[in-house]
Amino acid sequence: MAKAKTKMGGTKRGGGRQGASRRRARMPRPKAAAKPRADAGSRKRAKPRAASSSKSTRAKPGAGIKPSTLPWGEAGKALQGVRILDFTHVQSGPTCTQLLGWLGAEVIKVERPGVGDITRGQLRDVPNADSLYFTMLNHNKQSITIDSKHPIGRAILDRLIERCDVLVENFAPGALERLGLTWEHIHKLNPRMIVGSVKGFGPGPYADCKVYENVAQCAGGSASTTGFRDGPPLVTGAQIGDSGTGLHLALGIVCALYQRHRTGRGQKVLVAMQDGVLNLCRVKLRDQQRLKHGPLAEYSQYGESIPFGSAVPRAGNDSGGGQPGWILKCKGWEEDPNAYLYFITQAPVWEAICDVIGEPGWKTDPDYATPSARLPRLKQIFARVEQWTTTKTKLEAMEILNRYDIPCGPILSMQELAEDESLRRTGTVVEVDHPIRGRYLTVGNPIKLSDSPTEVTRSPLLGEHTEQILTELLGYAPDEVAEIKQSGAVSAPQKRAAAA
Ligand code: COA
Repeated sequence: MAKAKTKMGGTKRGGGRQGASRRRARMPRPKAAAKPRADAGSRKRAKPRAASSSKSTRAKPGAGIKPSTLPWGEAGKALQGVRILDFTHVQSGPTCTQLLGWLGAEVIKVERPGVGDITRGQLRDVPNADSLYFTMLNHNKQSITIDSKHPIGRAILDRLIERCDVLVENFAPGALERLGLTWEHIHKLNPRMIVGSVKGFGPGPYADCKVYENVAQCAGGSASTTGFRDGPPLVTGAQIGDSGTGLHLALGIVCALYQRHRTGRGQKVLVAMQDGVLNLCRVKLRDQQRLKHGPLAEYSQYGESIPFGSAVPRAGNDSGGGQPGWILKCKGWEEDPNAYLYFITQAPVWEAICDVIGEPGWKTDPDYATPSARLPRLKQIFARVEQWTTTKTKLEAMEILNRYDIPCGPILSMQELAEDESLRRTGTVVEVDHPIRGRYLTVGNPIKLSDSPTEVTRSPLLGEHTEQILTELLGYAPDEVAEIKQSGAVSAPQKRAAAA
């Protein structure tokens, strides 16, 4: 089993600090919560450099530290010491905090008592077990249940804000503020706090809209440029709206942490899903501008003499770059929906392509010898290459083409990826144990750091770490924890009713 966390990283970081906060711990009444705690931001941190001196602003954070002599991979994790207050749900936000967890941050996921992240129960395959939707997006996290609208729940949240470095949320627009967690409130409690948010749209006419993956793909330019010219817009299987935005947000948060070394203060980090998708579609905005200067010659519709309109068209499987490519059938395509290969007619290896497919005459034929001569004939060229690829399986074709450095790629099914030994060896595909659902497969950390190896730990059960966080991190005494439980601030409504 991938190691399940039983101890909070935070307990290791400051026994003294926790001892102190435990001594100060009082039952969190709403009145007390309104008052900023005296120990706000009291965690031991590196002193920020004085921003006033020009010498010190040039200094690199940590430049004076001697290189570790510990073996590679044993000097702690990249984000060790960073504590994340995770208010995320569904996919975009959880992708971000999972990634930060893989990189070593301590992630505390706040969930609604009795309900939790809605994905726990969505697309369930095993009765009563957290769904794969949830487990595969919430590794390396702890779960605390808090009713954020309960006055005592709010007071607990304030204490968490004081002790965390980053708050990440992807609520609908305005929801965080409706909870009273405005930037002003958070910043007052903890001036070092970084607040990372995913929203569907940035400021503008759609700022208040709720957004899911496919809405972002449509609003960010992906759908209008995906699919075939004579068909409707298509969404992609890659979750560029949700997971893509989560990745963007993670980068923004890490940058804000880095900047905080110099400024000593937190900041807001916002990634709108529309912006994230558009960023991934940047080559299509490039083509939009190129259209003003003539047709897009590398699009196959150019070779077919089909006129271009005013907006970038859908281009089927055309290559997005300057080297024409297409998806070609391979041996077995009649039965296997994935017996296909992406083939690129890269200019530098054109002569090798001609030899492999048995058209040596094309090397010197003026109709085929140069990239510009080939552009109007791409359909015919790919049809000829396909005559060759249909005599080989996709993997045989790839093996032969790689001998000549001809760029190509097999269409791999999810089944093939799940069974791929090399992906398992690198930790990109991992198996994880779960106490209720048993062993399952997931995608591990695709970002490999040579000095910060990733350990994928299972997703937490709902509220699994509530008591531990209340006592060990927040310093509540056992009788206070009992009182909190009685109040219903951390338990499900039916339990509240029983407690009353
Ligand atoms: N305790 C009490 N209330 C809680 C809570 C907790 N622990 N956690 C959440 N809530 C409340 C919120 O405060 C909110 O209450 P409000 O409506 O009174 O303000 C409510 O739960 C619902 O939150 P919301 O974010 O509106 O969820 P939703 O299910 O209605 O909408 C999304 C889901 C994804 C559409 C929406 O959150 C959204 O647009 N997010 C931003 C874009 C995004 O990330 N989309 C991709 C998701 S993969």
